[in-house]
Amino acid sequence: MKINKELYKKELDFYKKITEEKLEEYVEIKYPEKIYKSIKYSLNAGGKRLRPIITLEVCKMLSGSYEQAIPTACAIEMLHTQSLIHDDLPCMDNDDYRRGKLTNHKAFSESTAVLAGDALLSYAPMIIIDKTPKTVSYEKIVQIIREYCIAAGTEGIISGQIVDIESENKIISSETLDFIHEYKTAKLFLLAFKSGAILGNAGENQCEALEKFAKYYGHAFQIYDDILDEIATFEELGKTPGKDANTHKATYTSIYGIDNARKEIKRLSDICYDIIETNNFQSNILIGIISDMTERVC
Ligand code: IPE
Ligand code: IPE
Ligand code: MG
Ligand code: MG
Ligand code: MG
Repeated sequence: MKINKELYKKELDFYKKITEEKLEEYVEIKYPEKIYKSIKYSLNAGGKRLRPIITLEVCKMLSGSYEQAIPTACAIEMLHTQSLIHDDLPCMDNDDYRRGKLTNHKAFSESTAVLAGDALLSYAPMIIIDKTPKTVSYEKIVQIIREYCIAAGTEGIISGQIVDIESENKIISSETLDFIHEYKTAKLFLLAFKSGAILGNAGENQCEALEKFAKYYGHAFQIYDDILDEIATFEELGKTPGKDANTHKATYTSIYGIDNARKEIKRLSDICYDIIETNNFQSNILIGIISDMTERVC
């Protein structure tokens, strides 16, 4: 599919900058400073900001404006950051580096990292409620908060993470692997796409198509992350490579091999391109986030 690469990079930078400025504004340091410093340490550590970019872009693509989606986009990045802080804990993946810096529990303490994650989990919906412009109806806000609860809880990340941890050192079925990808990764992308759709006044068919896109893209993204864990460097990742193999994680690459993982990303990406074409979605970013994956590893 055709993409204007230069414009794509500009658009990414634009949305990333808005997200980072607003995150900085939304979280102010006050007493007790330690918890706010710990939260801001992880929130401001960088990262691609992919999920808020998606929310802002989907809203803009559908309605012509993105401003009404800024608080929700930031809230989704808060939830994502929470999931990473807890994912890195010694009782989970036990990682020392994240986004090129020491993980939260290494820079602060384990108890602070647990609390910073918990705090982000409730900070996020509060931002949606308090900061979304009054032009957005309460009905829409309730709908978004409901989707947030689904993604954050046992209908989302939590269930993915528990099966992921339980599956270490095990041979698992393709259904179980699909479950892990769907819940620990795709559900958060679903939140990003769906809330952009809600705020952009998507029609029923558009909403359905974007949900499908989120699902396939989310699966592809996790397989991509698993491949990068095998082939990329610390400098590229900002996190320790080779961790999945060392801790005997059940991943697409460990089960089917890296070549099949590449093929699966290609297959899922083609479905996503198809969705863009069929629905006539006019977005460089939707094309770009897929081609970034395929160009890097396929
Ligand atoms: C990492 O997500 C967690 C996964 C779902 C694989 P990202 O690769 O989007 O991490 P950041 O936000 O850029 O650090
Ligand atoms: C990503 O799983 C999913 C969540 C963090 C919820 P990973 O454990 O593969 O993510 P990284 O590789 O640590 O970023
Ligand atoms: Mg993990
Ligand atoms: Mg991890
Ligand atoms: Mg990983």
